[in-house]
Amino acid sequence: MILPDSKVELAHRGNKVVYDLGDKIVKVFNESKPVSDIFNEALNLARINEAGIRSPKALEVAQVEDADYGWALVTSKVPGVTLAEKMNAEPQRFGEYLEQFVDFQIEIHGFTCTQLNRQYDKYQRMINSIDQINATTRYNLLERLNGLKSKGFVCHGDFNPSNVIVGEDGQLYACDWAHATQGSPASDVAMTYLLFALNSKEQADQYLELYCERADMPIQLPRQWMPIVAASELARNRKSDEDFLLSWIDVFDYQ
Ligand SMILES: Nc1ncnc2c1ncn2[C@@H]1O[C@H](COP(=O)(O)OP(=O)(O)OP(=O)(O)O)[C@@H](O)[C@H]1O
Ligand SMILES: [Mg+2]
Repeated sequence: MILPDSKVELAHRGNKVVYDLGDKIVKVFNESKPVSDIFNEALNLARINEAGIRSPKALEVAQVEDADYGWALVTSKVPGVTLAEKMNAEPQRFGEYLEQFVDFQIEIHGFTCTQLNRQYDKYQRMINSIDQINATTRYNLLERLNGLKSKGFVCHGDFNPSNVIVGEDGQLYACDWAHATQGSPASDVAMTYLLFALNSKEQADQYLELYCERADMPIQLPRQWMPIVAASELARNRKSDEDFLLSWIDVFDYQ
């Protein structure tokens, strides 16, 4: 594919740039990104579309015909504003937006999708790949993972307000399904908690309390997952968060 000159840059981070093409969105990755990851994100998205979850439609995976670029994922555009932008613009309405955010996540957790990658396999692979922690800690994490119930519910894997778009129809849409799996909603809640906690412990606690109350989930469940999701975040190698994540991994502190 050829990127049009009219493209507008929406986000630029790490190994990718996200452009608005008017009626479509294109996520362009550099060569460091394994091509299989891009096809996997497209496949996740197609499965999520078919499950009936409000999300952008997967349209195309293509190589960009420009030496500066690598592969691209094209999706439909959901015109609107992200919940993160709304929360920033109107901090006094944070609680109200958080309720919408939580209700949407609970709705997503009500879906099953037997085709999606299995959460257990993904966490097991990630824990085994972390070189920042020793074999003893990895063993503890794997033991903990084995003790937790695996379920078949849709888990976004990176559910945070920047991945939720408030559409022009007033409904919420979730984008960025690169990390989606079928598994336990409690692990997805633990991940969202950690993502909030990277910026604000207070917002993270408010989120966790609200989710558990509205979903009637015991707060102990997401807490049991926290060392595991922290470890899997560590495996993604976002260096800046390393100390914070390591502090969450100590299994013994959490029993
Ligand atoms: N289909 C879409 N319609 C409208 N806006 C979108 C769409 N896809 C992405 N965006 C906007 O672009 C931003 C970045 O896209 P996306 O979340 O997919 O990438 P990312 O956050 O960089 O990926 P990752 O979290 O995997 O590192 C989103 O926060 C959203 O504002
Ligand atoms: Mg995102």
